[in-house]
Amino acid sequence: MKKLAPSILSADFTRLGDEIRAVEEAGADYIHIDVMDGHFVPNITIGPLVVEAIKNVSNLPLDVHLMISNPDRYIKDFIKAGSNLLSVHAETCPHLQRTVNQIRELGVKPAAVLNPSTSLSMLEYILEEVDMVLLMTVNPGFGGQKFISSMIPKIKKLRKLIDEKHLSVELEVDGGINLDNISQVAKAGADVIVAGSSVFKSADCKETVRLMKKIILN
Ligand code: DX5
Ligand code: ZN
Repeated sequence: MKKLAPSILSADFTRLGDEIRAVEEAGADYIHIDVMDGHFVPNITIGPLVVEAIKNVSNLPLDVHLMISNPDRYIKDFIKAGSNLLSVHAETCPHLQRTVNQIRELGVKPAAVLNPSTSLSMLEYILEEVDMVLLMTVNPGFGGQKFISSMIPKIKKLRKLIDEKHLSVELEVDGGINLDNISQVAKAGADVIVAGSSVFKSADCKETVRLMKKIILN
């Protein structure tokens, strides 16, 4: 069953609770939360306090995407705040295996994230130890960027790798996904699809979620 994870980065932060309830009612599967530090990526967003607040208004798993340098320093804080899935960029973790296992030991599902230009070979010795891999289809930092279509073969290649090894690792794709390209991303092999601006900047975010779910489930 393919899943949809609306990214709250493009939500109206003055009515965040309502926005989350709306996508939840419409059939969202995860709430994707983008944490940026102004160091690893050129933007600053939110921290554990906001994750904790979201936990209080949502029953969905919180899919927390850490775009921060030295994530090890903050793992405990984000887990305490209520993360269910915690994603760390391979580019930020010199000891990725240790970081992934630390997340798991603290009772949360670990995921490894790759930037568009980072090779799938980074996953060779870690794929068996994560619950999810997140492939970026934009360079992280901002919502509303254009989908990099040369990432489609990368998604297909990872799909094949996961299937050949009979792993239950989820393949998540994030960046620039909208009603026009979501079917292509799903067909390439994504299990979890993140969508930010195309959901929250649409005229009716509930209807957009319903439509997106319909497309990926077909
Ligand atoms: C990009 C973030 C994404 C982003 C998605 O740095 O990781 O999750 O919010 O937003 P859209 O769907 O607008 O590209
Ligand atoms: Zn993200």
